[in-house]
This record gives sequence, C-alpha cells and structure tokens, in this order.
Amino acid sequence: MEVDVSKIEPGQLIRVEWRGKPVWIVRRPQEILDALPKHDDQLRDPASEQPQQPGYAQNGYRSIKPELFVAVGLCTHLGCSPTYLPDSFGEQVQGVSSGFFCPCHGSKFDMAGRVFQSVPAPLNLVIPPYYYVNDATILVG
Ligand code: FES
Repeated sequence: MEVDVSKIEPGQLIRVEWRGKPVWIVRRPQEILDALPKHDDQLRDPASEQPQQPGYAQNGYRSIKPELFVAVGLCTHLGCSPTYLPDSFGEQVQGVSSGFFCPCHGSKFDMAGRVFQSVPAPLNLVIPPYYYVNDATILVG
C-alpha cells in the first residue's frame, strides 16, 4: 500500500491499514527525536535488539528516516490499540512528554514504540516492512 506522507504535520499521526492491522505513521518533531535517548534507562530494550523485525528498526529511532515513525498500532501484550498521547505523557512517565498508552493493562511505549519497564507488554511495538518510493511516498508491506 502506497501512502503519501508529505502532508503529515509535525506531531501528527495518521492511520492506514495493512493486512487487517492498523499501521501508524507519525512525523516526529526534532525535539522529540532529541529527547529519545534521554530515557533509555527506563526502557526494556532501548536499542531494539529484539528479533523478528526489520533491520532498520534495530536502533534508537526504529525507523528508516528519523522523522517518520511507522509502526503496527497494536499493543504487544494482548493486542489492544494504544492511545497516542502527543503532549500529556509526562504525567504517565517521568521526563517523557509523549508516547503511546495502552488502556487495557497500562503498558506504555515511547515515541519510537519502545516499551517501558514494569508494564505487561513484553516487546517494543512491531515495525512493519516498508520502504520509501520517493521522498513523499512510502510503501507499506
Ligand atoms: Fe496492552 Fe495489555 S493489551 S497492556
């Protein structure tokens, strides 16, 4: 599935569907990217070394281009759909201003889909296969 990503505003999340699953595409502002390494010590797998994911997800940004985050929008605990909290996550996790919160059992993920410690979800959010067709378009799947 081709997706035009050129009109996604900084901080905006759009949803598309891939193989019956929700896929999120978020344009991360520079301040979010700058903040990502600062809370590595609160995460289960900050360098995202977990297996069974694309090689381009095995880093702190978990994406091909840092600014564009692409992930399957399903919690890795029991598959609920987490809520995007673009600017109120600081109340959930100290020092982290935004991320994803799963309302089913309270799992929390940062803006790279990396799971925090002490929550039920065992793994970071799944990154689907995708690539850039050109600067304005990605192909998911
Ligand atoms: Fe998300 Fe359980 S399904 S925390």
